Amino acid sequence: MSRTLVTGANGQIGSELVDLLRERHGPDRVVGLDLNSPTARNGQSRTGPFVTADVRDRDALAQVMSEHDVEAIYHLASLLSATGEEHPDRTWDVNTGGLKHVLDLAREHNVQVFWPSSIAVFGPSTPKNNTPQQTVLDPTTMYGVTKRSGELLCRYYHRRFGVDVRSLRYPGLISYKTEPGGGTTDYAVDMYRRAAAGADYTCFLRSDTRLPMMYMPDALRATLALMDADGDALTVRDSYNVDALSFSPKELVAALQERVPGFTCTYEPDARQQIADHWPASIDDRAARADWGWAPEYDLDAMTEDMLSHLRSETPANQEG
Ligand code: NAD
Ligand code: SER
Repeated sequence: MSRTLVTGANGQIGSELVDLLRERHGPDRVVGLDLNSPTARNGQSRTGPFVTADVRDRDALAQVMSEHDVEAIYHLASLLSATGEEHPDRTWDVNTGGLKHVLDLAREHNVQVFWPSSIAVFGPSTPKNNTPQQTVLDPTTMYGVTKRSGELLCRYYHRRFGVDVRSLRYPGLISYKTEPGGGTTDYAVDMYRRAAAGADYTCFLRSDTRLPMMYMPDALRATLALMDADGDALTVRDSYNVDALSFSPKELVAALQERVPGFTCTYEPDARQQIADHWPASIDDRAARADWGWAPEYDLDAMTEDMLSHLRSETPANQEG
């Protein structure tokens, strides 16, 4: 029986993607892989096969591929931007080494690959608004360096060896099931969680820091749509820009205050401000729209309603009631 492999399966995206793929293909046909077993803290159901392994270990990955007859890999295992600045060596090894192993094994086993890039590939010289698909790419973080290197590696493996690897430059992703894992855009999820719990929030970015964001249901839809698309229609083989929403902390505060009267936010920017200052405010995603029909469904209001209703239903008071 051939299976789909998801690395980084315990993470913010992986935990939801595993469940979605298991709904699509059946629980036995999707293998999760991460450094540790799933815990109650991540939303992933434990209904199917799971492997604990390090993506830096090529032999372990090769064994999983053979044992499970893997036909597609969603390679999500990574360190993110803020953690990446704390551990640059490890970030290079995990992000770039892990991807290289996955691409080599995909070439060997004729496997389709999804690998996410990020808005972190852009930098201070990149146009900040409506950032084009083809533009200056001058990342300033180790995370961004690994993402741009990864994009080039993906394109090379596609051109040189015909590996069917597809990629999106995700913006900051917002979700309620599994907490984010060390990024700069995490403030938005933190703010939702505090507001839903009736608490105030201290934001680590300045109030006017506008960044591109996307709600998780849109991100998952984009991922599966790209993987389902006709390969001949894809004109971008490094990584597609995808846009959904753009807002600043103060705009998110205003959206929350309409629904959570009395919610307040104070601002204490830290080192993550410098990372955010080099990222775009909004993205031009015309290539994704033209090539495989990308269109987001959630705006800030719709996302805020949905986030709050889920987070409030998870609070202990509501669970008891
Ligand atoms: P996350 O930090 O929530 O999860 C990453 C997972 O990878 C964790 O469960 C971690 O245990 C695992 N991992 C780390 N090192 C590993 C290793 N050596 N071997 C095996 N597993 C390892 O990250 P996420 O938000 O789910 O992101 C997934 C992918 O999407 C990453 O490539 C990330 O760069 C990309 N991305 C995410 C966002 C976002 O806002 N969440 C935005 C842009 C791109
Ligand atoms: N959300 C991610 C981060 O902040 C962007 O890739 O690191």
